[in-house]
Amino acid sequence: MRAFFFISLATFAAIAVAGLVPAQAETTRPLSAWEAALAKQQGALKPAASFNGVTDRNARSLALYAEAAKVITHPRCVNCHPVDNVPRQGAAMRVHNPPMTGALDGHGPAGQRCTTCHGAKNFEVGGDNIQSIPGNPKWALAPAKMAWQGKTPGEICRQIKDPARNGGKDLEALFHHMNEDELVGWGWNPGKGRAPAPGDQKTFGGLIRAWIDTGAACPA
Ligand code: HEC
Ligand code: HEC
Repeated sequence: MRAFFFISLATFAAIAVAGLVPAQAETTRPLSAWEAALAKQQGALKPAASFNGVTDRNARSLALYAEAAKVITHPRCVNCHPVDNVPRQGAAMRVHNPPMTGALDGHGPAGQRCTTCHGAKNFEVGGDNIQSIPGNPKWALAPAKMAWQGKTPGEICRQIKDPARNGGKDLEALFHHMNEDELVGWGWNPGKGRAPAPGDQKTFGGLIRAWIDTGAACPA
């Protein structure tokens, strides 16, 4: 069964590379009823301006972070930010099948790099009951020091502000990463069978901007 799985993936990859199948569905195409229902389950993301009424600056910062944390703690992000160098899949954040590790550089072991199966774009393989293989040019696993899995929003908050654990980013660089990074952006364009993170990347970026501007407070 597993051997078959590998072979079919390899075949799909080969076909995709050879360009023998029509270009994949536009990632901006309307959601199917099924995907729309999934997305709706996630609810919306409040924009930063909706917290303007919180007059205490620190309380406003905390409220902004709590809203942004709906994205940060979402499976679309956490599946790539595990504690054990093993990617997770799906809403239940189950261990990646086939078995996979980030290996030394987050891109997977030699001979089984992420790019063996994950292309530059989501690859939709079939009907409504078949999931897509997610894709992005930067597809890789976040290192364990950037792990968010199993952590509280407060723990993640202190970690993403810490240059020793966030890839050397100051708060401005952190904002730009959240607001513009295309791999972060994949969270709102995850392909068939996956609910997107709440809201959209610009609304999320706006929350991060306002959180930083109010002192980047972290919950206890
Ligand atoms: C396909 C895997 C993948 C997904 C999905 C993913 N990330 Fe990451 N993330 C990475 C990798 C790899 C790095 C380290 C390389 C870098 O900094 O670009 C990283 C680093 C980061 C960093 C900087 C380091 C840190 O922990 O502070 C932030 C912030 C971040 N990601 C936010 C997000 C958010 C928000 C989402 C969901 C909307 C997300 N990521 C989804 C792989 C992923
Ligand atoms: C042998 C093929 C293969 C390799 C190699 C591979 N993956 Fe996957 N991956 C898949 C398939 C197929 C799926 C879709 C299945 C699903 O989501 O249920 C998937 C889904 C995922 C998801 C789930 C996204 C979500 O939010 O549900 C993540 C995260 C992921 N892979 C990360 C990685 C990373 C990081 C690497 C490299 C270290 C990697 N994968 C290597 C085949 C592979």
